[in-house]
Amino acid sequence: MGLVEFPGGPGHPPASKMTTYHHLLDAWKRKWALVRDRPLREVLVLLWRKLVYRRVEMGSYGVRAGDSQALAVDDGLEVSFLHGDEVERMLGTSPHLTREDIERFRASDSVCIVVRDGQELAANSWMSPGDVYVTELRRTVQAPSTSHLSSRTWVEPDYRGRGLMSRMIHAYSTRVAAPDDEIWGLVYDWNVASVRSLEKIGWEPRGCLGTIFLFGFLKIPVGRRGSPA
Ligand SMILES: CC(C)(COP(=O)(O)OP(=O)(O)OC[C@H]1O[C@@H](n2cnc3c(N)ncnc32)[C@H](O)[C@@H]1OP(=O)(O)O)[C@@H](O)C(=O)NCCC(=O)NCCS
Repeated sequence: MGLVEFPGGPGHPPASKMTTYHHLLDAWKRKWALVRDRPLREVLVLLWRKLVYRRVEMGSYGVRAGDSQALAVDDGLEVSFLHGDEVERMLGTSPHLTREDIERFRASDSVCIVVRDGQELAANSWMSPGDVYVTELRRTVQAPSTSHLSSRTWVEPDYRGRGLMSRMIHAYSTRVAAPDDEIWGLVYDWNVASVRSLEKIGWEPRGCLGTIFLFGFLKIPVGRRGSPA
């Protein structure tokens, strides 16, 4: 399958130590700019959350693959799937996708779902079978091998509003997964576009999963993933 080389892909040079140093310095400058003019109380709350206690919680949604519902659209955009070594080419195509993600996706035999518009990459999304490491929760979630976790969905801003997230996940559910498999995902409740995209293809809330971080190193799992209907 021919694939265009996307920005930041394997052809791009690795970051030097100097570049890394500048990135770190920039990151600290941005953080300082965020708190500089805030009242002391707010700064203390932020520090508390960063250094002492932080709770991250995400809604768990899912659907039986065979019950996934199609959207009625026909704009000629093609959905396809990348496996194995091919997924390496996706690095740099989404601001949320890191090299660690790619390595984990390769190790877990994850599938990358892509939407192309000619030579342009319009969107991509990932599906990982079985037990999965959830970056946001910084821990592995146990799941049967017939479960597929959807993550790292990205639709290019120019292509939003055409239901591409729903279409990618539906395509995987009906063309790759077995009908009785469970397709599931974790979403922050403020991410209305994601929640709506899932609801439109028949996904339902199953539970919620989270992690409490204490003193930056102690991790306490909370919530439950929920089971397929
Ligand atoms: C989330 C994302 C993938 C959705 O892109 P998309 O497939 O183009 O989704 P659409 O823009 O077609 O929106 C899907 C639905 O959400 C609704 N929606 C979108 N933004 C909304 C908002 N801010 N408030 C309310 N509804 C909203 C749309 O109206 C649409 O519903 P409808 O068809 O009933 O009208 C895209 O916004 C994105 O890449 N975001 C950044 C990365 C991200 O958040 N990824 C998901 C991680 S779980």
